[in-house]
Amino acid sequence: MTDPLARHTDYGAESLRESDVADDPIVQFSVWLEDAAARGVYEPNAMVLGTVDADGTPSSRTVLLRAVDADGFVFYTDRLSRKGRALAAHPVATLLFPWYTLHRQVNVTGEVAAVDDAESDAYWASRPHGSRVAGTASAQSQPIGSRAELDARVAEVEAAFPKGREVPRPARWGGYRLRPRRIEFWQGRTSRLHDRLVFTRDESLGDWSVERLQP
Ligand SMILES: Cc1cc2nc3c(=O)[nH]c(=O)nc-3n(C[C@H](O)[C@H](O)[C@H](O)COP(=O)(O)O)c2cc1C
Repeated sequence: MTDPLARHTDYGAESLRESDVADDPIVQFSVWLEDAAARGVYEPNAMVLGTVDADGTPSSRTVLLRAVDADGFVFYTDRLSRKGRALAAHPVATLLFPWYTLHRQVNVTGEVAAVDDAESDAYWASRPHGSRVAGTASAQSQPIGSRAELDARVAEVEAAFPKGREVPRPARWGGYRLRPRRIEFWQGRTSRLHDRLVFTRDESLGDWSVERLQP
């Protein structure tokens, strides 16, 4: 069997030229996201969210992108979770979309702010009943004695809010919007001579500029 640590895959079928990309990186991102979905990437909207804890320690985890537009990238979580506490201390983050089977990745950096209650309510209401029960029963990232204890909490919430009954959104659960100031598109090329185009937002003008980085 091939040693997974000794693989040298040569990327190369596709390229990313300045003339290929949209002037607006959000438009370009949407093109690549749709491409990832159409070409069978598993969970194409999964992204690795990197944050900085209060003491400066970095941490990362996967979350799902639930909306993207000119205002930014939206995901939902428990605001008292580890990531929620990190974002309260340092409201900046990175998002990494690892579309390995397409030999692509997109890396986004920017300021993060909580989405408003109406937007969180709307998304909460769209979730399956089981997810709303779980989001209510679980204080994300807090230790718990056993699986049985967690199951008992879920049963309690289920008894209080049986299927068909509205489960109210817990105050600690909601969305965040990352407003991008840097977006990098990475396309794998042959012999490690990859294409990297990075968009940077000029804060005073609100315009995006693009430059090529060495691989
Ligand atoms: C594919 C995938 C998607 C996930 N999506 C979310 C999500 O949208 N929101 C969320 O809070 N956690 C999501 N998780 C769980 C997180 O990775 C993480 O375990 C959890 O949010 C707690 O992280 P924290 O302790 O760093 O705050 C997902 C995990 C995976 C593997």
